[in-house]
Amino acid sequence: MPVTALLSAKSCGVTASALALTLASKRPSLLAECDPAGGTVRAGFLNGEVGAGYGLYHLAAAERTGPDALANAFANHLWPMDDAGHRKLLPGLTDPAQAAALSRTWPSLSEVLHVLSADAEYDVFVDAGRLALESGHLHPTLTPAPLIHRADLVLLVVRSTEHSLTLARHVIDPLRTELQERGSGADALGLLLIEDGSYRAHQVAEALKVPVLAALPWDPDTAGYLAHGGRPPRGYGRSPLLRHARTATEQIEAASSRRRIQQEFPARQANPQLAGVLQRLAEQRGGGSRG
Ligand SMILES: Nc1ncnc2c1ncn2[C@@H]1O[C@H](COP(=O)(O)OP(=O)(O)OP(=O)(O)O)[C@@H](O)[C@H]1O
Ligand SMILES: [Mg+2]
Repeated sequence: MPVTALLSAKSCGVTASALALTLASKRPSLLAECDPAGGTVRAGFLNGEVGAGYGLYHLAAAERTGPDALANAFANHLWPMDDAGHRKLLPGLTDPAQAAALSRTWPSLSEVLHVLSADAEYDVFVDAGRLALESGHLHPTLTPAPLIHRADLVLLVVRSTEHSLTLARHVIDPLRTELQERGSGADALGLLLIEDGSYRAHQVAEALKVPVLAALPWDPDTAGYLAHGGRPPRGYGRSPLLRHARTATEQIEAASSRRRIQQEFPARQANPQLAGVLQRLAEQRGGGSRG
């Protein structure tokens, strides 16, 4: 299963979308809250029930002891978000000042997340917060750069409004170059579209020259509950956001396996017949793409 990093040009629904995907996935799933500006799930969706003794910050100290200590600490700091324990949260930082301590932890954490996704078949979603650049590259403290570099897919979350597209347009090129030069390749980049404006998915893809890999509906009640907590709205379990998030996890998984196949057989990419077969196989797995 893929490790998918979600980020934005400016706050537009990364955390709510990442939570929706994690809660809706058909598979065991994990949300790693790695926004250096601080996590919001413990105070929001989890209504403050997770204390500061849990979470990402504690992995920094463990990593200094060694890789085994980090792996153990990781397992001990996961918080179950359902009764069966299939949906887990690695709670984020409680103070943005803690972010600097994480810079040497990100590569080892990335390794653990990839083992969890490859060997234990978890759907792993990383809340990577807002994109911050320094001299044209991902900022070393204000972004979890190593996690973004190594992610199977990097989804820029955008809303289908002129404002959101304008903000996104400025970060696409640096992000693409960063992934090409320091990451797993520019083809890791895709869009997760939040449908709150007039633009359709194909128009957004065309405008930003990046494929829309999945889309989520505008659903203020459910998103408000995921982002800020409180009481679940009526019909929460069957809400548009969670239903479409389930489809989105399949589309994300399909895009990731498509990419993996293309990386394994690069020489054959030029073969249009094989490309057609790959496309059909991916569609059968993911149920096609919305929009
Ligand atoms: N699909 C959606 N439908 C309606 N509202 C949404 C949706 N997704 C997010 N929102 C709303 O947008 C606001 C911001 O959401 P969220 O906190 O997830 O953004 P973010 O990108 O993580 O922001 P930050 O960068 O500040 O962490 C919240 O009020 C949330 O309810
Ligand atoms: Mg957030």
